Amino acid sequence: MFVIAGVTGNTGAVVADTLLAAKAPVRVIVRDAAKGAAWRAKGAEVAIADLADVPALTAALRGAQGAYLLVPPRPTAAEPLADNRAVAAALAAAVAAARVPHVVLLSSIAAHQPDGTGPIVSVHVAEKLLAEVTQLTAVRAAYFMENWAGALGMLAQGALPTFIPRGLVIPMVATKDIGKTAAAALLEGPRGDARIELAGPRDYSADDVAAALTKLTGRPVAAADAPLDAVVPTFTSFGLSPAFAGLFREMYAGLISGRVVWQGGAARAIRGQVDIADVLGPIVAGR
Ligand SMILES: NC(=O)c1ccc[n+]([C@@H]2O[C@H](COP(=O)([O-])OP(=O)(O)OC[C@H]3O[C@@H](n4cnc5c(N)ncnc54)[C@H](OP(=O)(O)O)[C@@H]3O)[C@@H](O)[C@H]2O)c1
Repeated sequence: MFVIAGVTGNTGAVVADTLLAAKAPVRVIVRDAAKGAAWRAKGAEVAIADLADVPALTAALRGAQGAYLLVPPRPTAAEPLADNRAVAAALAAAVAAARVPHVVLLSSIAAHQPDGTGPIVSVHVAEKLLAEVTQLTAVRAAYFMENWAGALGMLAQGALPTFIPRGLVIPMVATKDIGKTAAAALLEGPRGDARIELAGPRDYSADDVAAALTKLTGRPVAAADAPLDAVVPTFTSFGLSPAFAGLFREMYAGLISGRVVWQGGAARAIRGQVDIADVLGPIVAGR
């Protein structure tokens, strides 16, 4: 039995669908029973649990040969890192109690850094806690291609504001590739404590993203550098908490300074198949 968290989100849905397509036994974790119905119809078992609720999560994980777990974002939290630390501790406690032999964790580029990476600190903590209680495969994902959906507000004016300076080439990955890679890691089983560094088919700059948008819209789109000081006001204007916005400022600063990079070493580097245009196409078409 494979137990999958986050199935109403980007990556968990792909993990569960990929495993179901491979005829593997799947149990999904949802917080809201109504959201489980679609999964039951697809042939999955459904467990109801909040990832911070150790008894419910332990029950949901019982009998699992492998589990896909994540530390969900807390966009409106006053103290997102503290909340995420509590979730990470709950994940580890439940995995230990249910004796799950293998966990595939959605982690991030730069998860080896203990600080100075903004929200990535949460998966640094989760990796540490889980590695103490199970065999961990950390899928360290690059910057999500889907993040660009939040920067398309000025597309009609031909502008793509970016906190990643225009010429800076960084790894990016589609959530579909993350889900497929995580499902493959679950089916493959534990390989000791393992790290996968997962990027898309190539690395991209904001100029590359603007070029993809130019092709998709048929009108010129140009990336425009936005200063780091604009991160917090921009994110809070979208309704995110000042603390969460501050973490993102730190992450963008880390991308610029070179702190948010791959660890390398013994990690398995994998390149996915989904290109930035494949991700942005449906987003642009749906606007
Ligand atoms: N964005 C990036 O560039 C990036 C890069 C590397 C790694 N990451 C990691 O990716 C994560 C997001 O992954 P994603 O995009 O697949 O997720 P997502 O689409 O943001 O969805 C979050 C999922 O978690 C569930 N969830 C939230 N809080 C929960 C709780 N307390 N208990 C149980 N389930 C809960 C949600 O279910 P409901 O329907 O109940 O809300 C939803 O299914 C981030 O948190 C970060 O750790 C992000």
